[in-house]
Amino acid sequence: MDCIRIRGGQPLQGTVAIDGAKNAALPLMAASLLTDQPVTLTRYPQLGDTRSMADLLRRLGVEATTPDMCAGTMGLVTPSVTSTTADYDLVRRMRASVLVLGPLLARSGHAEISLPGGCAIGTRPIDLHLRALTELGASIELEGGYVRARASRGGLRGGRVRFAQVSVGATENTLMAAVLARGETRIENAAREPEVTDLARCLLAMGAHIEGLGTGTLHVQGDTVFRPASHRILGDRIEAGSYAAGALITGGYLRLAGAPADAMTATLDVLRSIGAGVEISAGDVVVNGSGTLAAADVETGVYPAFPTDMQAQIMAVLCLAGGRSRIVENIFENRFMHVSELVRMGARIKVRGRTAEIDGVQRLLAAPVMATDLRASLSLVLGALAAEGESVIRRVYHLDRGYSRLETKLRAVGAIVRRTSEDGST
Ligand code: UD1
Repeated sequence: MDCIRIRGGQPLQGTVAIDGAKNAALPLMAASLLTDQPVTLTRYPQLGDTRSMADLLRRLGVEATTPDMCAGTMGLVTPSVTSTTADYDLVRRMRASVLVLGPLLARSGHAEISLPGGCAIGTRPIDLHLRALTELGASIELEGGYVRARASRGGLRGGRVRFAQVSVGATENTLMAAVLARGETRIENAAREPEVTDLARCLLAMGAHIEGLGTGTLHVQGDTVFRPASHRILGDRIEAGSYAAGALITGGYLRLAGAPADAMTATLDVLRSIGAGVEISAGDVVVNGSGTLAAADVETGVYPAFPTDMQAQIMAVLCLAGGRSRIVENIFENRFMHVSELVRMGARIKVRGRTAEIDGVQRLLAAPVMATDLRASLSLVLGALAAEGESVIRRVYHLDRGYSRLETKLRAVGAIVRRTSEDGST
């Protein structure tokens, strides 16, 4: 297995090109199941998770090709759905596999999806997805660890879906199903995350009729007649925020080219409150981390509040801030797995329930650490970039799921980082 070795203490300086957002790309890819018309995605990120989604889609009948790797283009076309089953092996690897449920059900009238089961950051059920699809006329059975969903003879029909709790994935699944359902659907308490809006934009380009983009209520006129579409994927606000945190924790200066500034307001506000200079210029975000780091109180929440996917990275920065900081994690119940690893680097953090208290220290020290989930792993990379000595980060497949060319991008802005096998050979 690979590990990443980082010798800390180098300020990150230069320009990092921000990729298309992983969390936008995954539902966009799943949307190609809705139609036999081609969908072309540009600014497509080459990641472990997008590869897993492409593998799953190919098994379902999607022809997924990357004609122009350099320009980051992904072409998807589904002449017909050849299978309606997403098996345990795939869903276990990537929870977002569940996003094929809505489109499969809408196009083929049935789908079988393995239940995702537990994962590193909590139980993460899919009850909201299932309840919403039931409102559109699906009958659902749970059997042998699988969800078996079936539409009535005439297919799904429009309906009123009111989510009891905001869910990004459930909103996306419902939206995709609704564009093919008969008649109108109203989705209330919909997630407003920019990636949901990006999906809606692509569906519009594909021929769908959706109103209320970016709001908590989406109106969908079903029975879409699809046409070929091309869509440029929204920039990755979490990748951009992670590199911004890198500039801050190393006292560096980074231009984040193509960062989606408008979608990052809460993250940029928190970075500013900790001491970053942040400017938005010509479509880029420029972060100056040369000031001293101040403690902050941060709470995660649904968009537009501070994203849970940036919580671990901000915690790494706060480990070196003067005074006591607090982070409250409101979205996932078990998302402090990085704490024990940061403590191994010398951080002082106490967790009580959903709150972490961080007492800033003068310095972090290199240590061997283990990645536990995607975003948690990046907090360890950040800790290692600031720590004295060489840290070794194991289980880097978590990082590869969501950060493209991480070492290359970091090296280009001055980090001393290499990937080796665990025995030290390169
Ligand atoms: C998406 C993102 C993930 C991000 C999360 C929250 C993708 C591929 N992943 O995940 O990176 O951390 O949004 O912004 O876009 N819940 C239920 N029942 C459900 C569905 C969700 O109880 O049926 C709960 C979850 O356990 C969690 C909360 O709702 O506590 C929010 O989850 P949700 O917004 O659905 O996250 P995902 O779509 O899985």
